[in-house]
Amino acid sequence: MARHLAPPLDAALMARVDRYVEELLVPPDRALQQGLEDAAAAGLPDIAVSPNEGKLLHLLARLVRPHRILEIGTLGAYSTTWLARALEPGGKVVTLEIDPHHAEVARRNLARAGVGEQVEVRVGPGAATLRAMIAAGERPFDVVFIDADKEGYAEYLELSLQLSRPGSVIMADNLIRGGRVLEPASPDPRVQGVREFNARLAAHPRLDSIILPILREDLDGVSISLVKA
Ligand code: SAH
Ligand code: DHB
Ligand code: MG
Repeated sequence: MARHLAPPLDAALMARVDRYVEELLVPPDRALQQGLEDAAAAGLPDIAVSPNEGKLLHLLARLVRPHRILEIGTLGAYSTTWLARALEPGGKVVTLEIDPHHAEVARRNLARAGVGEQVEVRVGPGAATLRAMIAAGERPFDVVFIDADKEGYAEYLELSLQLSRPGSVIMADNLIRGGRVLEPASPDPRVQGVREFNARLAAHPRLDSIILPILREDLDGVSISLVKA
């Protein structure tokens, strides 16, 4: 039986499959590509979502016909641009970023991509910004994407829920971490952060969730949660 199975999963195969899907379904995009190049030139780390994951976030967001999207962790606004392109007319993205330099690069990239008017980049620690938004009575978001510091994920989930409504979709990146999430005793605080996040996702009475594996050079994963009443 085993000889009929596909070759074993390895990094090169995962990268080739990822590329195959990208070449089929995610056409090259000048604004997105230039944004990545400018982010790299400005010294930002190369940790944006992949083109395929960007398209996934975009498609999932579009299913909700969103007017308001919240992102935690902007970097150079690569994922932000994919999300902004999912907005209904008149809609807006609020994206939270702790690093003013990242925010500056992000604003330039968003303007070049033609979505600068629809996106507000708020600079500051994500949790404090979310608490201020809740205190200010900010209207709920239709879609939330969590992708900032992994140690903060569990708190971002709780705060995001306070900025959601039944029917909102919450997504989060980097939940598998090359499989290291399988190690309960991992000394890596990022692994511990996503393990705690994943456990809360599973236990939360207001969420119905799945984690989808994401192929790149490494195996990772993205969650999709539907907020219930
Ligand atoms: N979503 C982006 C990638 C984000 S990388 C994309 O896919 O294109 C993570 C970002 O979170 C970095 O820019 C980092 O500066 C930011 N970040 C780290 N800690 C944060 C915090 N406490 N609050 C807000 N943003 C934070
Ligand atoms: C890291 C952060 C991310 O959001 C990501 O997608 C990949 C890597 C990091 O902090 O290393
Ligand atoms: Mg990420």
